[in-house]
Amino acid sequence: MFTTSEGELNITAEDGTKIKLATLTGTEGDVGIDVGKLRAEHHMVTLDYGFANTAGCQSAISFVDGDAGELRYRGYNIEDLAEHSTFPQVAYLLLNGELPTPSELEEYESAVRSHTLLNEEMKRMFDAFPRKAHPMGILSAATAAMSTFYEQYHNPRDADSVRESTIRLMAKLPTVAAFAYKKSIGQPYMYPRNDLDYTSNFLYMMFGLPVAPYEPDPVVSRALDALLILHADHGQNCSTSAVRLVGSSEANLFASVAGGMNALWGPLHGGANSAVVAMLNDIHEDGNDVAKYVKMAKDKDDPFRLMGFGHRVYKNFDPRAKILKGFAGNVLERLGVDDPLLDIASKLEEVALSDEYFIERKLYPNIDFYSGMIFRALGFPLRMFTVLFAIGRLPGWMAHWQEMIEDPNTRISRPRQIYAGETSRDYVELEKRV
Ligand code: CMC
Repeated sequence: MFTTSEGELNITAEDGTKIKLATLTGTEGDVGIDVGKLRAEHHMVTLDYGFANTAGCQSAISFVDGDAGELRYRGYNIEDLAEHSTFPQVAYLLLNGELPTPSELEEYESAVRSHTLLNEEMKRMFDAFPRKAHPMGILSAATAAMSTFYEQYHNPRDADSVRESTIRLMAKLPTVAAFAYKKSIGQPYMYPRNDLDYTSNFLYMMFGLPVAPYEPDPVVSRALDALLILHADHGQNCSTSAVRLVGSSEANLFASVAGGMNALWGPLHGGANSAVVAMLNDIHEDGNDVAKYVKMAKDKDDPFRLMGFGHRVYKNFDPRAKILKGFAGNVLERLGVDDPLLDIASKLEEVALSDEYFIERKLYPNIDFYSGMIFRALGFPLRMFTVLFAIGRLPGWMAHWQEMIEDPNTRISRPRQIYAGETSRDYVELEKRV
């Protein structure tokens, strides 16, 4: 962790009580007010729905500047990483703080390759799910189940065990994801091919069949690799916070990551990528009436929201969406895909960005607005989109879990509440209740 400077904030409460709070300035971004002693000294707690103004930790992994529309992993711009790096290199960077040297990368990739198989007993678990099971449900269940095979690696304080678990998860998640998909379409599970790179192997397990040769398309493989890089980390987002929260109880890495996956599944978070394409499909089938959907999104009595718009942090633009917008056109063109949904997406963006409702609230397209379109062009089925997000976010989840465990300031996450219920009252026996 880089050094940060400390200061002081003095406030006066309504009753005249003077409150002195320490402040902490990081290397970039917001200043933190340390309220750690507020309750003990003044019987006060902070109230912050959705933790929109609360920092739960100090972190050196990624920096998000919502006003400037910037995202950096360990100081590197995501634009540079998406263009020049590879997903395994970025995973290494997030977990270790530095980009790997050629020999470090070789060692890391070879360690990951040596763990791509699942224990054969796990295959029976996939069989037990209903055919229509959502792959996100299978993914988190299988990740939690994986912990049962590696109990000797559960100790969060043993750095070697933790490293071994980060490698196993990185290696096995694509296999789990591909098995979940194969299960849903009734095809045989494809074992990993360790002669292929990370994303090509995943494509092979997803789309290959034992009856015919399958060579992953390098254009698809490279595009997927860049998409995974763009999803790899994003500060204290909902799923990462879930991973940290679960892990703060010293639950093992597999269990903590499974918790993050369940948080990611929701449509306001990672589930948005499939919700966007479902929404664009609805608009298409409804006669391409974009204006009607914009009107619905603005109607306070209608729960409908424009999926893929808005972000808690970005109030200018989402840099990931900006990269993906250019990328979407290129990928579709190179793959010769002519998708009518892309036109609807462009129209929707144009209408929304010129509408006062969206301008006032600073609602811009986010990463999920374009990623779904690209996942679709790459041949992935809708229900796998959030699984792809999970594969991409995995290194970030693990890096945060590791950082949290190593931070001497970490305590079990246990927020307070403002109690707003009944005050003490006498118990009434059942027969006396009317
Ligand atoms: N469509 C219509 N109105 C919206 C939208 C939207 N997509 N997003 C926010 N608003 C309105 C909201 O109704 C509120 O209006 P008002 O001030 O009149 O009550 C205002 O904008 C602020 O919204 P908020 O819900 O308080 O903002 P938040 O920071 O709590 O939520 C969000 C952020 C991403 C959950 C939200 O913008 C949203 O639901 N977007 C659609 C789902 C989506 O695309 N999620 C992916 C997020 S990016 C990647 C990720 O995290 O996975």
